[in-house]
Amino acid sequence: MIERPRMHIKTFGCQMNRYDSDRMLEMMVARGYELSDDPNTADLVIVNTCSVREKPERKVQSFVSRIVSGSRHGEKGSRSKPVFVIAGCVAEQHGGEFLDMQPDVDLVIGPDHLHELPDLVERVKKGERISAVGEETVPSFLQARPSGPGVRVSEAVTIAKGCDNYCSYCIVPYVRGRERSRPAVQIVDEASGLVALGAREIVLIGQNVNSYSGEGGFPLLLERVSRIPGLSRLRFTTSHPKDFSRSLARQFKELDNLCEWLHMPFQSGSDRVLENMNRGYTRAQYLEKVAMYREYAPNGAIGADCIVGFPGETHKDFEDTMKLVEEVCFDQLFSFKYSPRPGTSALCLADDVPMDVKTGRLKELQELHTAMTRRKNLELVGTRQQVLVEGPSSRGDQMSGRTRSNKVVNFCGKESLVGSLVLVHIEEGLANSLRGRIEESAA
Ligand code: 5AD
Ligand code: SF4
Repeated sequence: MIERPRMHIKTFGCQMNRYDSDRMLEMMVARGYELSDDPNTADLVIVNTCSVREKPERKVQSFVSRIVSGSRHGEKGSRSKPVFVIAGCVAEQHGGEFLDMQPDVDLVIGPDHLHELPDLVERVKKGERISAVGEETVPSFLQARPSGPGVRVSEAVTIAKGCDNYCSYCIVPYVRGRERSRPAVQIVDEASGLVALGAREIVLIGQNVNSYSGEGGFPLLLERVSRIPGLSRLRFTTSHPKDFSRSLARQFKELDNLCEWLHMPFQSGSDRVLENMNRGYTRAQYLEKVAMYREYAPNGAIGADCIVGFPGETHKDFEDTMKLVEEVCFDQLFSFKYSPRPGTSALCLADDVPMDVKTGRLKELQELHTAMTRRKNLELVGTRQQVLVEGPSSRGDQMSGRTRSNKVVNFCGKESLVGSLVLVHIEEGLANSLRGRIEESAA
């Protein structure tokens, strides 16, 4: 039997990167590759990188050095050197420099060029070292998606790429390029194809989905996707507060399968800091958008991102952030210490909050949020929740799914339930998940 070549993909960063990794995997599987957990024995190693903060970027550098030396020492002599690919935002940022910095890296490929991957890998195998970065007129996300190996219960579909907001701390507009929206018909086709193959939930993704500029705008796109026969659930992420409109909020009431879950980063609770971040809204305007959402989705869940220790952040500014977190009572909060990023406009502001103060503020904020979510999760004990079953739990001993509000629920159940909606009686509220007992199939 001929052995299939093996590939390993390591993904850092956000939902956009996870989506790109899936597309790279599909393309290479179509060329005969199979997925491997082990980077040291793979024939093709792809590292899909993130540069949004310094920490993930450092992790990328150390991961690359580790696997490059691991695979060099691992099976020396028994097989040829694997093809090393650096993809994603760090690839876009450093381009050809990566080839100089890391002699074992063969291919550096930016987010707009992913559709060229199979051909570029072939060229590398013939001895070339290649850098394929920069904006393309027909970027990868406008290319047809190959039919993949195994469709998940919940599948993401990209609706737009890049960002034009230029928040002063953020590298994304520089590495992901200008905002470009995908034609609605292509999005609906891709989502319909996934549902026909077994997906039950579609998550529309983009750096800022609310500013989708395709035909009819975002609220209409939601309506079109929600009408796909067989689609149980629809979600979207990420929302920018300044573009979250009433016509969008109304869809939470109008569209039955649109889940009551909104991810809308606020970044800071202080007007002064928000202005220096160039976010385009005030604290009061953010709170108005939250109220508007809750008007149409009264028990809707809300998640956000937030940065502490932005240049010039005083104790009072931080207190404003803490108060906002208390006021909104988020269901999910991703919080980060500010880290200066190359090329961003915040670089001209002194990074003047000492690291120990940033660390202390982050800890305080996370403790507050954890206590609040724990309380919220406890309040759900005794309720019945509709759960879309996604697969075995992370520990593998139970089944796992999510409520409409995106909370993870683990329960005892059969594997055959994967893909179905069930009603679960919640018995335990933990810090990051719920546990319950299945009552019946909901649909
Ligand atoms: N420093 C810290 N956090 C950042 N984020 C983006 N850029 C930075 C930075 N320079 C955070 C924001 C964003 C999330 C994806 O990462 O909160 O919403
Ligand atoms: Fe970055 Fe701001 Fe765009 Fe989000 S909206 S990707 S934080 S520039």
